[in-house]
Amino acid sequence: MEQDARRRILGPEAAGDGPEDRIVDAGESLADEVYGASLRPRSFDEYVGQTRVVENLKIAIDAAKKRNETLEHILFYGPPGLGKTTLAALIARDLGRSLRPTSGPTLEKPKDLVGILTSLEEGDVLFIDEIHRLGRVVEEFLYPAMEDFQIDFLVDRGAYAKTIKLPLKRFTLIGATTRAGMLSAPLRDRFGIAHHLDYYDVDELQRIVTRSAGVLGVPIDAPGATTIAARSRGTPRIANRLLRRVRDFAEVRAQGTIDAAIADEALLREGVDELGLDRLDRAYLRTIVEQYGGGPVGINAIAATLSEDTETLEDVVEPYLLKTGFVVRTASGRKASPQTYRHLGVSAGGPATQERLL
Ligand SMILES: Nc1ncnc2c1ncn2[C@@H]1O[C@H](COP(=O)(O)OP(=O)(O)OP(=O)(O)O)[C@@H](O)[C@H]1O
Ligand SMILES: [Mg+2]
Repeated sequence: MEQDARRRILGPEAAGDGPEDRIVDAGESLADEVYGASLRPRSFDEYVGQTRVVENLKIAIDAAKKRNETLEHILFYGPPGLGKTTLAALIARDLGRSLRPTSGPTLEKPKDLVGILTSLEEGDVLFIDEIHRLGRVVEEFLYPAMEDFQIDFLVDRGAYAKTIKLPLKRFTLIGATTRAGMLSAPLRDRFGIAHHLDYYDVDELQRIVTRSAGVLGVPIDAPGATTIAARSRGTPRIANRLLRRVRDFAEVRAQGTIDAAIADEALLREGVDELGLDRLDRAYLRTIVEQYGGGPVGINAIAATLSEDTETLEDVVEPYLLKTGFVVRTASGRKASPQTYRHLGVSAGGPATQERLL
């Protein structure tokens, strides 16, 4: 596409879209939950990538089956949207057991856990998402359940208070977290198996997009799938979301078939560029480059210029830009990298210098 047309579609790099419903956010939106459900892999064969993790899990599952034991507790950690919840479901399915999903924030008191734990059958899988958000008391209540498959139950109060031990069926706990650093050491130590999920490469994402297109019944060619994959920020959830948007565009504008040109145009319209950056990312980068001469500049100054709050920038914009090396953090603030100048099409030294020369 012509550079001009590209600019016209991408529009002025004002902050534009708020961070609330960014198409490139890795977190799960309600729409993902509703429209993405059918795209979840139903078996390990459909689960793309994370080869080492999957192989190790299969060995652990087979060994447990062979010994007729329950599988050890498993912890998955890594950025959002990489397939932690999906893996938990696949493990339960492979074991032929039920999955009991819950999450850290919903387990406020030990009593919230008692009902769940006592209802588990032998070998069932209890999945606790966002396990780093378990309250302290609930967490400690979980220790004996994980370790000895029993809970200490407090009956009566005051002088008559006593704890009775309630035995549980042996179960497997699968915990998932995006913030492994926030887990306490005692909790971490109680997991027999821990796996870090990493970002996917473009090849893997291309396979995921191709598979998802098949599930959705939309024709796509290999370059079309690669175009979407390359902009998905290493994240299957984003890949599936971009695919859904491109599909709409293809159906309205191109008889439904997705090729590279259609994918490119559809995503530019969504404000997503060749490297998966959206308007907010580019506005952030332009601020550093054009307003602050490439930095270093403090996050508060950037936030003020963009009228965003600091936390939003730190939580939803900077992680990807730091990971990909568009910005570096120094003691004196954020700095743009040469890659940023290239991507924005601005020469180092920037327009400010040129103006001074004129
Ligand atoms: N390896 C994979 N192969 C194919 N599709 C995948 C894979 N991993 C994830 N997906 C797709 O991405 C979506 C998001 O995955 P999932 O919900 O498991 O991520 P998550 O790691 O649990 O994210 P969060 O940290 O936000 O809970 C899934 O619904 C699925 O469609
Ligand atoms: Mg999840």
